[in-house]
Amino acid sequence: MKHMVKLSSGASVPALGQGTWYLGDSAETHAREIEALRAGIEAGMTLIDTAENYGDGRSERLVGEAIRSYDRTKLFLVSKVMPSNAYGTRLMQSLDRSLSRLGTDYLDLYLYHWRGSHPLADMVAAMEKARASGKIRAWGVSNLDTTDMEELWRIPGGTNCAVNQVLYHMGSRGIDYSLLPWMREHNVALMAYCPLAQAGRLSCDLLGNSVLGEVAARHGATPAQIALAWAIRDGNTIAIPRTGRKEHAVSNAGADVLDLTAEDCAALDRAFPPPTRKEPLHIE
Ligand SMILES: NC(=O)c1ccc[n+]([C@@H]2O[C@H](COP(=O)([O-])OP(=O)(O)OC[C@H]3O[C@@H](n4cnc5c(N)ncnc54)[C@H](OP(=O)(O)O)[C@@H]3O)[C@@H](O)[C@H]2O)c1
Repeated sequence: MKHMVKLSSGASVPALGQGTWYLGDSAETHAREIEALRAGIEAGMTLIDTAENYGDGRSERLVGEAIRSYDRTKLFLVSKVMPSNAYGTRLMQSLDRSLSRLGTDYLDLYLYHWRGSHPLADMVAAMEKARASGKIRAWGVSNLDTTDMEELWRIPGGTNCAVNQVLYHMGSRGIDYSLLPWMREHNVALMAYCPLAQAGRLSCDLLGNSVLGEVAARHGATPAQIALAWAIRDGNTIAIPRTGRKEHAVSNAGADVLDLTAEDCAALDRAFPPPTRKEPLHIE
């Protein structure tokens, strides 16, 4: 993959990876989803994002099946722990269950899924313990806003957080105002979730927008590919589109060859204006 992102943990990862929310939920689509994940891996999207609570472990199991025949060292596996399990010995127990479902003995990145009621310091201590055990190579957070990140940075070990995974697409770019600049300044990579606005569902037909269509036509690309190229345009963002279809996986990986011009970005800024004030973090 041409577009790569260097994490503060030292790892270099493809800027386009694969999401897995809702994958693994239905026996009917199981084979097609396995095929899609494998097509994505073969097209270079070797980073796979999942979570312990996706389908109550079914997504992790599906990923485990999809990756079985691949060289583990060529993959970058990301999973997430729920806040109710992100402290003390509970984190290690959750991690062990995730590893078993994925059929691997380590995660490349483990994320704290959203902010819960336990102190952040407990999560950091448990993540650092997991990192020292070798069962995770790095850890990060998800759905944390600027003030949460500032608080994390004041906790010993908190600055080892390599990634913040938050919702980001053209129709929802509130983080451009303060969170993203803060993350750039502190070398925390963005993992953009819902980069296709769930095929437009989250943002009134994002993929049918006429300006997006014009930019796509200029590049001989699809609107979805432009949405992905836009999400990763800063060189410090990983987008994780999810699909259960092989043809969409191949097409999503194809966004890697696109480079948006200043003219494209200006047109998209007019159609999807950047925020002019702090907005509440959008969470899906
Ligand atoms: N940390 C968090 O709290 C959080 C929250 C939400 C999501 N996530 C992660 O982010 C990932 C991505 O977000 P998401 O799954 O909610 O939404 P998304 O990736 O924005 O959109 C997924 C939808 O887009 C469709 N799609 C995919 N590729 C397409 C293409 N080339 N052309 C047209 N449609 C296409 C898929 O349908 P088909 O299957 O038909 O292709 C699916 O309906 C998740 O899977 C999950 O791993 C994390």
